Amino acid sequence: MNAHSDIKASQEAKEDLYYAVHKGLRLANARMLIALGQLDPFDDDAVAATVTQLSDHIGMSMSHLTHENNEVHTIVEQRLPGAADHAGDDHEHHVEAFDELRMLAGDLVAAKDDRPLRLRKLYQRFALFVADDFRHMHEEETEIMPQIEASFSAAEITGIRERIVAGIAPEKMVLFSRAMLGAASRPERIEMVTGMKAGMPEEVFSGFMAAVLGKPWRDGDWDALEAALC
Ligand SMILES: [Fe+2]
Repeated sequence: MNAHSDIKASQEAKEDLYYAVHKGLRLANARMLIALGQLDPFDDDAVAATVTQLSDHIGMSMSHLTHENNEVHTIVEQRLPGAADHAGDDHEHHVEAFDELRMLAGDLVAAKDDRPLRLRKLYQRFALFVADDFRHMHEEETEIMPQIEASFSAAEITGIRERIVAGIAPEKMVLFSRAMLGAASRPERIEMVTGMKAGMPEEVFSGFMAAVLGKPWRDGDWDALEAALC
């Protein structure tokens, strides 16, 4: 092992705060865009279900943004002034996008004959949000995370992630877990589920997995997990 590989090994030991959750958000963004594109605007039940899916999606995205603002950006700012400024500006634009999307979804539900036009406006606005969000997440992963890795210890980075997880309400954790497990590779999925199982009592774990899958899950049945989430 030379000096270069020593440095690489120490970097690899640090968690990437963005990797798994951003993969989940990318999957959820893509699924939401497809759902809006495939929606029949005159099917009342489908419109109601898709608007609920959008509301959940905005709620999850808003939580993620709040976690980053409160637990990541404030800490980064203390040690690296200015490093998170651009990401913070993006977050403000995201909040504006969420307000517009909620308004456009309300317009769709309230509309009568012009529902196709209302749906198209909602679909187009959501697509623009996704485009912004994909670019924004890439910037966080390639510009902010390397600065965090260079300036914070592995224990400090793990502490940031633990504070974020501790602050997530159970119903939001179900949404995040669905997206993150669905977006992960099988080895990553097994590692995540094994980690969750180790971190909670057996009955809590069973209940949590049933909430994530929408039905009870038998430990280690990875095919059933993937059939439900992937
Ligand atoms: Fe962000």
